[in-house]
Amino acid sequence: TEYDLLIVNGLVVTDTETGEYDIAVKNEKVETVARRGTLSKAIAKRTIDAEGGYVTPGGVDAHVHLDEPPLFGKGSTADNYETGSRSAIAGGTTTIITFAPQRKSEDSLLSILQATHTKANQVCYSDYSFHLLVSNPSPLALSEFKTLREEGISSLKIYMTYEALQLHDGQILDVLLEARKQKITTMVHAENGQVIDWMTAQLENRKFFAPKYHATSHPPVAEVEATYRAISLSEFIDTPILIVHVSTPAAAAHIKAAQDRGLPVYAETCPQYLFLTRKDLDKPGFEGAKCVCSPPPREGEQDHEGIWEGLANGTFTILSSDHCPFTYDDDINGKKTVLSDKYPVGHFKYIPNGCPGLETRLGLTLSADLLPIQKFVEVTSANPAKLYGLWPGKGAFIAGQSDADINIWYPPGQMEEFTLKNELLHHNVDYTPYEGKTMKQWPRYTILRGEVVWDREHGGVLGKKGYGKFIKREASSLAGSRDPGDWDILA
Ligand code: URP
Ligand code: ZN
Ligand code: ZN
Ligand code: ZN
Repeated sequence: TEYDLLIVNGLVVTDTETGEYDIAVKNEKVETVARRGTLSKAIAKRTIDAEGGYVTPGGVDAHVHLDEPPLFGKGSTADNYETGSRSAIAGGTTTIITFAPQRKSEDSLLSILQATHTKANQVCYSDYSFHLLVSNPSPLALSEFKTLREEGISSLKIYMTYEALQLHDGQILDVLLEARKQKITTMVHAENGQVIDWMTAQLENRKFFAPKYHATSHPPVAEVEATYRAISLSEFIDTPILIVHVSTPAAAAHIKAAQDRGLPVYAETCPQYLFLTRKDLDKPGFEGAKCVCSPPPREGEQDHEGIWEGLANGTFTILSSDHCPFTYDDDINGKKTVLSDKYPVGHFKYIPNGCPGLETRLGLTLSADLLPIQKFVEVTSANPAKLYGLWPGKGAFIAGQSDADINIWYPPGQMEEFTLKNELLHHNVDYTPYEGKTMKQWPRYTILRGEVVWDREHGGVLGKKGYGKFIKREASSLAGSRDPGDWDILA
């Protein structure tokens, strides 16, 4: 056989194994993984010498916001499917899962799915799928979960905060019960909305408006309480949940306790909780506003250490970007809310929540050098694929089954360190919260289904707009409901 691509002399790393292997690619798939040297006589259209660098499955980023309407009433998403997926491949992420957001005024989820397909169709550089964002679990919406599964959607996200999205506990139970029946994984944004609203009013009464008060208005206890409540509701219905963007070790402790009791409770953290602190919200001028996200970056090093520890010990199943870039000079109903004459550095209440980070997620994390390499592959690629029903097509190198989505990294000592600057990135955002960070690793090559889509030294982004395709997902391959009989009475 003639292969399409051979990758030789790499140190191949998956979530379970590290070894000196060569990889042969044919028809977009990993065809063979063989001991180094044994493919030396093979014929291929192209051979890439990894020169001893790590060769890992392409990144899977399971938390990305692209082309969303101004759901929170404050600013629209700066990246669309084209610019967002372009920045994904330039940072080594070959598959993204974005949100198809339902407004409270909307009923049918299927029409939202179709509208989101229209936004992504023919313009993506990376492969993609969608989570449904459910803000109105009406009888119609709940009845559509079954069809969503048939359409390849096996996860959805709900919110415990934000007026425009927040569900009350009874609605959360409605969602969890139907999700349980259809083997759907429910992602939960766990912050207590009323605590946040109360704190916001307290601060406004005292005329505290600066961006740093965003953190004050989102105290750790709001996250900790909601996390524990979400775990309790999921235990009651006996169905898996994933707590998204966990920022504080105190919430992680509740998650770990639930996991230690055998509950199917999964968790996600993000680079902003490893690299940013509350001090970043207090930068001069409008700079602080650029680091506003929810939950907010926490106090300092102890929090970072706790989150790194949660990654190392398995409390966090996945590490996602929560890429959610905003345009700050939007007019909402003809009125500038974010940057106005009244609040020249922003009023924390009006600053849209979210930071860009799709392109920097892998490079930043690997540059920190605080996770064993297999753990890095687990939380950034293999586990998001397993959790959301993409494995082993994504996140693995299983011969004959896995798509040839591959990152080739620089061999030790071979990449010249560089200082991160926004102008190096490919998103449609005019800042990165990680400006000035020292990068010690970056993908040298990124391959998507056998095509080199990123070559850092020869042309940068080589992928074609529209090459990325929608991937239908199966049910999660991680543990789900423990006792399928319990809820038959309500079936
Ligand atoms: O601040 C954040 N995380 N913005 C994105 C929306 C969300 O809740 O994930
Ligand atoms: Zn969220
Ligand atoms: Zn730190
Ligand atoms: Zn998000």
